[in-house]
Amino acid sequence: MLEVNPEKRTQIEEKVQDLLSRMTLEEKIGQTRQCGPSLVGAFGMSFEEALNMMMDGKLSKAEFDKMIESAEMDLKEDDIRAGRIGSFNGVTGAERIHHIQQIAVEESRLGIPLLIGCDVIHGHRTITPIPLAESGAFEPSLWERTARMSAKEAAADGIKWTFAPMVDVSKDARWGRISEGAGEDVLMNSCYGEAKVRGYQTQDPSAPDAIAACVKHFAAYGGAEGGRDYNRVELSEQRLREDYLPSYEVAVKAGALTVMPAFNTISGVPCSCNSYLLTAILRGEWGFEGMTISDANAIAELVAHGAAADRKDAARLAMNAGMDMDMTSECYIEEMKELIESGAVSMAALDRAVSDVLRVKFELGLFENPYYMDEQDPETAFLKPEYRTIAREAADKSIVLLKNDPFGDRDAAAPVLPLSRDLHLCICGKLAAQRDEMPGTWAVNAKGNDCVSIVDACESQKVNYTFLETASADELSAHAAECDVFVAVIGEPREWSGEASSRSDLKISADQLDMVRRLLDTGKPVVAVLFNGRPIELTFLKENVPAIVEAWHLGVEAGNAVLDILFGDVNPSAKLTASFPYNAGTCPCYYDHPNTGRPGGRAKFTSKYFDAPLEPVYTFGHGLSYTTYEYSDLTAEVCPGNVPGDAAPGIDVQITVKNTGSRAGDEVVLCFFRDPVAERVRPVRKLAGFEKVSLEPGQSKTVRFHITRRQLGYFNSRMNFVVDPGEIDIYAGGSLESCLEASVRI
Ligand code: GLC
Repeated sequence: MLEVNPEKRTQIEEKVQDLLSRMTLEEKIGQTRQCGPSLVGAFGMSFEEALNMMMDGKLSKAEFDKMIESAEMDLKEDDIRAGRIGSFNGVTGAERIHHIQQIAVEESRLGIPLLIGCDVIHGHRTITPIPLAESGAFEPSLWERTARMSAKEAAADGIKWTFAPMVDVSKDARWGRISEGAGEDVLMNSCYGEAKVRGYQTQDPSAPDAIAACVKHFAAYGGAEGGRDYNRVELSEQRLREDYLPSYEVAVKAGALTVMPAFNTISGVPCSCNSYLLTAILRGEWGFEGMTISDANAIAELVAHGAAADRKDAARLAMNAGMDMDMTSECYIEEMKELIESGAVSMAALDRAVSDVLRVKFELGLFENPYYMDEQDPETAFLKPEYRTIAREAADKSIVLLKNDPFGDRDAAAPVLPLSRDLHLCICGKLAAQRDEMPGTWAVNAKGNDCVSIVDACESQKVNYTFLETASADELSAHAAECDVFVAVIGEPREWSGEASSRSDLKISADQLDMVRRLLDTGKPVVAVLFNGRPIELTFLKENVPAIVEAWHLGVEAGNAVLDILFGDVNPSAKLTASFPYNAGTCPCYYDHPNTGRPGGRAKFTSKYFDAPLEPVYTFGHGLSYTTYEYSDLTAEVCPGNVPGDAAPGIDVQITVKNTGSRAGDEVVLCFFRDPVAERVRPVRKLAGFEKVSLEPGQSKTVRFHITRRQLGYFNSRMNFVVDPGEIDIYAGGSLESCLEASVRI
């Protein structure tokens, strides 16, 4: 939790109330308005229209970038001067921010500083792996360090607020935004979000290089029906509270200063006007005192949802539900004055929203230091060598070794990876040379040329290699003879994951699979390296390719990190935080599923698909190493009640892991549990904890976990939180398939 000392909190509250008491109605409404960058110039269209044209393929990325770079931004200076804007989204550049901040601070009546926000999701200019990749490191200290680095770069560019971390539990690979969070498990998203809040804000959000975090998208956006973005979410109250809300709660209680409600409805009520979420739970149960910001245009979209009759009704519903700031829909600035004057929205409700906004600005130190960005040197603030070092470490630790078999049927042979640098590699596939594909989704300020592609890395490391963009039959006939091993670099374009990027089909494209077949036909070893932003169909690769490396979208150091793993300079340690389904038809696919009364199996009348395997191709927690580990001595015992009167004290678990191979490695130890009998049936496995340990060859370590009462319990049909006495099954080890088992009675 952000430790704001009581004295400082009181001082801030006094300042907030004093300032509020001096504000006009127009100035109050102005603070609830966030504007996006609008373009002026010969385009005759707004920024959003240009963005939509690019997303719809009517404008290329290059044309779009050229427009943005050449466009004069309409920074609405008169509105700033009149106190009609509280925040900007997506306006960057220390000089530009200084200019508009100076207008707000020195030319408006009350001098209230602007709050500048931006999507710094996985890096600002030094782009690190997408969250779905980085979560696979199972390393909170790393997650915090990359966030800290992002905050320093963003602050130098005038940004004081990021719309991150996204902690939406995502159990459906069809949903493109699975790329933006920590996968299918709520504990993973909880730990990831908590680490990111710490990294962005530190314990002193007023520090010049600290930025406000924004927990999003509240709530359960990842539960969209059919994996279709923006679609309805239908969850029981129990499932919402057990499988989705904890990740937001943990991030809020870590001290996040802002929260962003989601686009979706939950049981028919849009989150943007859901007072149960925004007031009863967020503020009533969790004690949140920060600010809520709508998602882009989301307030206006209450009309399309069918929750509001018109924009005025939308503004009324959102404000009364607890939505403090309007991201770019302009509903608040256009409608709020009449809503207040008519009494449809009380002045108390508006004062609450404005107080939340002002409180965040005070906690960020904006009143004392509105020109914080001037303390950073934009010329040297980005892409520092030490930042690239962190980015490469994060990329190394995000790469998952999915498969690593001996080549051919020579059982005695060593696995294909790691490769010797003496070999001649044939790097195949255009993704191997596409720097601008390496950032992945939500890298809004990335510059493609900042990224190192695999071909760049081969050049700089003087690797013995040939690059074939398509590895056509002609190319292969000319070059195959000189190559010892083929590296097929395949996957998805970065635009295929992220927002508004749901897929109904998870296949790798036919042309890429045809290329893999051509490489297999050479009779030489083939390694597949995947660049993708979500789980994709890997059945063909798993059946035919001896080694598979999941490299996701790794950011600026992608090429170097892939070679680190291929040549064994780094021993892979990452594990999957999202399952890879057999195909789109078997989605949603996740490990913590119920057993059903007829668990899927061979028999006809069981819960399965008769035309596809039920098991994922690779499941949550899967990830190989270049060394081997052995687990032993799993014990579990009920620990003395750790909460006075605790009816069911937690469980202490310990297990020993030994590096039985010939090289050092980092091993992620996983601990799961199952409550086999309960009033509401429980999942067959539930992650209780994880810990990554470093082990030299022959070294053993004992790893301890504590399973809390809160983890063991669930909401019964009457919404009472209960912990059933009885047996609890414990599973611990390096993967779901290889756990040791124990039981304990609580
Ligand atoms: C988008 C996304 C949200 C993002 C916001 C600002 O629509 O849903 O995650 O932070 O708009 O760009």
